[in-house]
Amino acid sequence: MEKKIQELVSKMTLEEKIGQMCQVDPGVFGSEEEVKEAVRNGQLGSLLNLIGAEKVNAIQKVAVEESRLGIPLMIGRDVIHGYRTIFPIPLGMAASWNEELVKEAAAIAAKEAASEGINWTFAPMIDVSRDPRWGRIAESGGEDPLINAMVARAMVQGFQGEDLSDPMTIAACAKHYIGYGAAEGGRDYNTTIIPDIYLYNVYLPSFRAAVDAGVATVMTAFNDINGIPASGHQRNVRGILKQDLGFDGFVVSDWASIQEMMAHGYAADEKHAAQLGLSAGVDMEMASRTYANHLQELLEEGKITMEWIDDAVKRILRVKFRLGLFDHPYVDESLADSVLVHPQHLTVARKLAEESMVLLKNNNDLLPLKKGTKVALIGPMVDQPYEQLGTWIFDGNENDSKSVLEAFYEYNGESNTFFAEGLKYTRDKSTKGFAEVEKAIAKSDVVVAVVGEEAILSGEAKSLAELDFVGAQNQLLQLAASKGKPVVMVVMSGRPGGLYKTQHLAGAILYAWHPGTMAGPALVNLIFGESVPSGKLPVTFPKGEGQAPIYYAHKMSGRPADSSSWTHIDDIPVKAVQHSLGNTNHTLDYGFTPLYPFGYGLSYTTFEYSDISLSSDKIKMGDVLKVFATITNTGKVQGTEIVQLYTRDLVGSYTRPVKELKDFRRVTLKPGESKTVTFELKTDELGFYLPDGNYVVEPGEFHVWIAPNAAEGLQSEFWLE
Ligand code: NOJ
Repeated sequence: MEKKIQELVSKMTLEEKIGQMCQVDPGVFGSEEEVKEAVRNGQLGSLLNLIGAEKVNAIQKVAVEESRLGIPLMIGRDVIHGYRTIFPIPLGMAASWNEELVKEAAAIAAKEAASEGINWTFAPMIDVSRDPRWGRIAESGGEDPLINAMVARAMVQGFQGEDLSDPMTIAACAKHYIGYGAAEGGRDYNTTIIPDIYLYNVYLPSFRAAVDAGVATVMTAFNDINGIPASGHQRNVRGILKQDLGFDGFVVSDWASIQEMMAHGYAADEKHAAQLGLSAGVDMEMASRTYANHLQELLEEGKITMEWIDDAVKRILRVKFRLGLFDHPYVDESLADSVLVHPQHLTVARKLAEESMVLLKNNNDLLPLKKGTKVALIGPMVDQPYEQLGTWIFDGNENDSKSVLEAFYEYNGESNTFFAEGLKYTRDKSTKGFAEVEKAIAKSDVVVAVVGEEAILSGEAKSLAELDFVGAQNQLLQLAASKGKPVVMVVMSGRPGGLYKTQHLAGAILYAWHPGTMAGPALVNLIFGESVPSGKLPVTFPKGEGQAPIYYAHKMSGRPADSSSWTHIDDIPVKAVQHSLGNTNHTLDYGFTPLYPFGYGLSYTTFEYSDISLSSDKIKMGDVLKVFATITNTGKVQGTEIVQLYTRDLVGSYTRPVKELKDFRRVTLKPGESKTVTFELKTDELGFYLPDGNYVVEPGEFHVWIAPNAAEGLQSEFWLE
């Protein structure tokens, strides 16, 4: 293949090379004829947002049969959590902690997208995010490097399959490189300040996992990092990604992110932006035209090198060869009908939706409900086939959706289900519909309130300063709780939030994220116990936005707080002496704990953790430590527990996080059944990256936990000599 690439490059004119480095949205670029003309002239290497097998074939024909060298186009699209069959938002997928299932979903998304002519998706988004205000947390794997790495692997392998040249697979794109999730204040596109030690240990591991899984492409981010825009960051792109990680696919900019270096105040003009982008190692420019307009001139002036251009073109051609586009450039136009929203795809969507939902509270075993229970089904998300799909569903179709209402009617019967939405949409402030809600509750034994946020309130540029439920949803929940009937709260949302002021109103809370096409059947299965919840939080739930950023793997501080070392603001005596309350790391209103910790999630059964033990309490470099614990299902139904392994390096040459997730297992147990879970911990999993990128494993004392979540668990300790 490398020989073929070399041969092709040697035949290319400079204009054709630059053409390969340009991607446009045909709808923005010009008329159909103008797009065809540019393709015919070899001036475009890729299009985004063109769908439909026939349309794609028509333009591909121009590229393959009418351009001088016949180089096929890459057709890109945001296929983020499904194409037509919509799976839960990526944050929800991460909550399943089920790599195989996420992979299966990505493979289905690839198949559906491929049947419509798409051969490249701009996913997975694997930006570690520790700020629930940031709207794009919905698209990420949450706060943890290991979970984001799992999502990276699952999606890259799912989209790309074993063999990228299979026409039913598509190229993946790991994004947004890098640090985009660290936007200051959670405001999208904002500045990021990321010391190198965090860059290497927190933000890079998911990209490393994507590269190791063979990701075909990587997208640079919009943000600037420590003063240098990510799309102009030579050390990060050319250095760390391409050289150090050995990434041999190509790098695409985000939409106009090269041109935006002018707005950042980093590029003086478009020409300068093009120079910075290519120098950094961005091989293809999305949407803006600085490469098309200026690379030739920059080359003539000696500001960029031919070697850089050739390297970029080779990388792009390499991916096109890997995709098999030179051998089969066209899409089978008859495929889509039999592929899109295939019943089997819906089954996977339902299963993943079920596994993504997290049971946060279940007082007195309120859930599951018995079939035939008289239920008041209330709230603005009950019958929202569109909103339940979540952000980034360009090709999702609400007509495919099964809403909660539909699923309740089907399963529980219309005569047992009293529907009154109360609010027409989540931001609705009018309480006119509350009278109907009261009537519905009067006829029922249990209230199921489906609240949250509409799809448009999370995702790109949808940051929020407040995390409380929007509209009059808090009042609706108060009304529901005031009638003396048990309340089950279901939350469909793109972010963690909304619960601090309302959770006491519900006996049970099921956090459903935006579950996708099969929201209704998945929820009904969980609510009525046809399935048992197993999801666990991939992100810490704060009490309020004032706690953000918040994450379990924080540093200890010199003055850690504990329950005895802080006083709630309401309990502080008037004129208390300055130091009388103790000086520890907390806030006077929220204390020091989150609302729900990372890794948390309940089941309809209970699991007991016992007998943690280690293969040794002293290990040497290169050894493998075995960590065991017994997990017992102490409840009445079969369930799956996600058992987590955490470690802490007690003393480091740099301060170390209080806990770090190292591994996890899904353990399915029948009632009364016990299993010993064994984790193998290699010593090279115990180290960390120094700010210069070198990895060190430092001898000393370590703590280790086998745990149901980041705040609990069985602890042991060992020494690394
Ligand atoms: C901008 C977004 O940041 C990115 O995630 C997306 O893939 C591109 N637009 C293309 O739509």
